[in-house]
Amino acid sequence: MPVKIGNFTLNSRVYVPPMAGVTDLVFRSIVRQIDPGCLMSTEMVSSRALLARPESRIMDLGETEHPIGIQIFGHEPDVMAHAAQLAEKRGADFVDINMGCPVPKITKGKDGCALMKEPELAEEIIKTVKSAVSIPVTVKFRLGWDDTSRNCVSFGEMAEGAGASMVTVHGRTRQQLYSGKADWSHIALVKKALTIPVFGNGDVFSPEAAMRMLETTNCDGVAVARGSLGNPWLIPSITRYLDEGILGDAPSTLERLITAYEHASALVEYKGLRVGINESRRHMINYTKGISGAAPFRNRLTQISSKKDAAEILAELAFMSEGGTARKNFLLAVEQNDLKYGEHPGERKHDRKSGIKTPVDVVSVAPVAVP
Ligand SMILES: Cc1cc2nc3c(=O)[nH]c(=O)nc-3n(C[C@H](O)[C@H](O)[C@H](O)COP(=O)(O)O)c2cc1C
Repeated sequence: MPVKIGNFTLNSRVYVPPMAGVTDLVFRSIVRQIDPGCLMSTEMVSSRALLARPESRIMDLGETEHPIGIQIFGHEPDVMAHAAQLAEKRGADFVDINMGCPVPKITKGKDGCALMKEPELAEEIIKTVKSAVSIPVTVKFRLGWDDTSRNCVSFGEMAEGAGASMVTVHGRTRQQLYSGKADWSHIALVKKALTIPVFGNGDVFSPEAAMRMLETTNCDGVAVARGSLGNPWLIPSITRYLDEGILGDAPSTLERLITAYEHASALVEYKGLRVGINESRRHMINYTKGISGAAPFRNRLTQISSKKDAAEILAELAFMSEGGTARKNFLLAVEQNDLKYGEHPGERKHDRKSGIKTPVDVVSVAPVAVP
């Protein structure tokens, strides 16, 4: 069932929303390989930081990467409008405004969820951003600041009135951070009050939960964040279950381990050896979750300093869980991958053809915080 977000039509009801430190170009390309049509967004990027570094790599988009949003945060309307213009120039299909981040480092500067306490300022930001770009403007927020101020319905109405084309609502307050259970009944109230599409968000970890979320809230789509960590296959399986009612098979352990290695390898390719390997550790740990007996291997994955270390550990894990053929097939996949990228890409940067196309001369802006 298509969802209309401003002037573009989305042929999916599944959204992988922004996750700082996760939804970079590499993660998104892995999800897209297996679910090309889902909606995705970059990590949040500071509108202030963009004043100094307009070429932030957080806004790197793949050449054919659509539909895609760039999420910005901040509280100064003009600075946010400038950031939105940069996002539009970089090719985003929509610009998402973060009004839900609960991290103190963000909220103490009036950014993220702090804007739910200042709906007038939030309205001015949305209106100013809206008037600065021609792509749709969307807003992501929570139920409210705390239990005594659950203003998500009036906040959603304000966002719609100010020109937002879609909202994503995480069913927790700022005070809750990630504790307790997401309250989908309040998301339902927002959906009922608005005419623009509403994506429900919070605690969807299976296709059945996605279906329950849509049935409970009547939302237009579902946003799945933590469930996709180390499990990009969840996204197409939700899409399939919502569209056809079919529960597909889970990926084999071998497939998970090969994807873990490919993810690490692509990160090294894109971010260089030191940063790439460092960031790949947590992803590989996520991919191995749920594999019986993998705990000691996860410990070792926290220590790796090269792709070779990763390949050795994952090959042993393939052998332990599925035997010699799985180990052999894993090592074959590693060989093919290394032929594509090279074993230590950072060292031969100019000799190879990259599989990932990014603008040259970009400056990295590290995610400010992980909400
Ligand atoms: C590691 C991590 C980073 C996140 N970064 C962002 C972010 O940059 N912007 C944002 O709006 N939400 C961010 N979130 C919140 C998620 O988008 C989502 O709202 C939240 O995790 C609840 O959804 P879930 O239960 O499906 O995980 C982040 C969440 C996680 C776990």
